[in-house]
Amino acid sequence: MNIKIAPSILASDFSRLGEEVKNLEACGADLIHCDVMDGNFVPPITFGAQMVKAIRPHTRLPLDCHLMVLHPETHIEDFAEAGADIVTVHAEACDISALFKQISSFGMKKGAVVNPETPVERVFSAVEEGADMLLLMSVHPGWGGQKFIPETLKKIECLRDFCVKHGVPELDIEVDGGITVENVKEAIAAGANVIVAGNAIFKSGSIAETIARLRG
Ligand code: DX5
Ligand code: ZN
Repeated sequence: MNIKIAPSILASDFSRLGEEVKNLEACGADLIHCDVMDGNFVPPITFGAQMVKAIRPHTRLPLDCHLMVLHPETHIEDFAEAGADIVTVHAEACDISALFKQISSFGMKKGAVVNPETPVERVFSAVEEGADMLLLMSVHPGWGGQKFIPETLKKIECLRDFCVKHGVPELDIEVDGGITVENVKEAIAAGANVIVAGNAIFKSGSIAETIARLRG
């Protein structure tokens, strides 16, 4: 499968976000992962559609917007206007089916995500609803730099198996949280093909080398 690397700008220098995304593109990233947090669905507040709009002119890469927010339906239009390419919404926060219709109506790609404690079965219906991506959290959402939760591997395997059996064997399965150049191999072997990494990329000596190593 085609492995795609999605650096999370949560770990980048917010005072120079434009340069950071430009550099990620030059270093071989495939997507820019934007962690939107509202202080309600998760305790921290990061940024919203206005920030996504600000970085849009600095890269041609798809902006992969992970909405860790309550009532995501109130923000979809803003993300469309900001130039988001993929919008991923939490099964714990909304009715996936309704949100997918809304996201599609703005011509964006749609993703569904579940937290570590939420059964993987909760995103099965998203496959039938035409999801462009499925995301499994491998840490509790809210913070970068946490340890990968190993039980996620079983969920990835189960989801890839479901996709294969439902005629979409190549559907993008993204894994998010605690990924390192060491444990990425297990995530890929389990069936993930879109790899989010924040600290592993930004705290490394070389962004380009780390992106290449994460690709395996
Ligand atoms: C956590 C975010 C992740 C986070 C990953 O809520 O969704 O995208 O930035 O950061 P690392 O790779 O440092 O665990
Ligand atoms: Zn994320």
